[in-house]
Amino acid sequence: MSKTLSIALPKGRLGEKIYDMFEKAGYGCPSIKENSRRLIFDDPVTGVRYFWVKPSDVAIYVERGAADIGVAGKDILYEYEPDVYELLDLKAGACRMAVAAKKDFRPDTGKTLRVATKFVNTAEKFYIKKGVDIDIIRLNGSIELAPVLGLSDVIVDIVETGTTLRENNLSIVEEIFPISARLIANKSNYRFKSEETDKLVSALGVKIKERS
Ligand code: PRP
Repeated sequence: MSKTLSIALPKGRLGEKIYDMFEKAGYGCPSIKENSRRLIFDDPVTGVRYFWVKPSDVAIYVERGAADIGVAGKDILYEYEPDVYELLDLKAGACRMAVAAKKDFRPDTGKTLRVATKFVNTAEKFYIKKGVDIDIIRLNGSIELAPVLGLSDVIVDIVETGTTLRENNLSIVEEIFPISARLIANKSNYRFKSEETDKLVSALGVKIKERS
């Protein structure tokens, strides 16, 4: 008998798109489409159990084994380095991590660079490699405000369409890495459920190929 796979999906627009991919790959769970506040959905036919999780928390559920599988952005995986397997690039939710600043920003090498970000480790890793001294200003949202109000010189943040930057007179200084959603798995649960997990990975892989 095959074992139930528990899957943490990121709540929100991207999560709904990701769920549709799973459904097309044969892992549907009709009750998930019901308009309710429930967070857990079981489908005995396909043997999956889905949870809706805050996107930045998916990796925590998977790393600690509360979910066997999850979908997390490369931004989160790079920032928190959770001890999980990264099984597949789902080629969805494409955006990029970038440094941005006011259009007239010119770096002053004699001064510590003030960097506002939610992605503290990402920014540190990036500037350590460059050998640039930085002062990190940790914010939780609306990062684009920081350079506009003079709180920071630059920001390290996600850019998707570029609209937020444009509408606040900011522009990209440098791209750090491309981001997309990744399928991740808990390491010890994978050993126990490798057959079911591999089957899911191949089914999703086929759908991704068909799409591209
Ligand atoms: C993200 C990111 C940027 C924006 C980029 O913010 O931090 O602010 O989206 O998208 P765009 O390039 O399409 O304009 P989010 O909406 O997650 O809110 P936040 O301000 O809380 O980070």
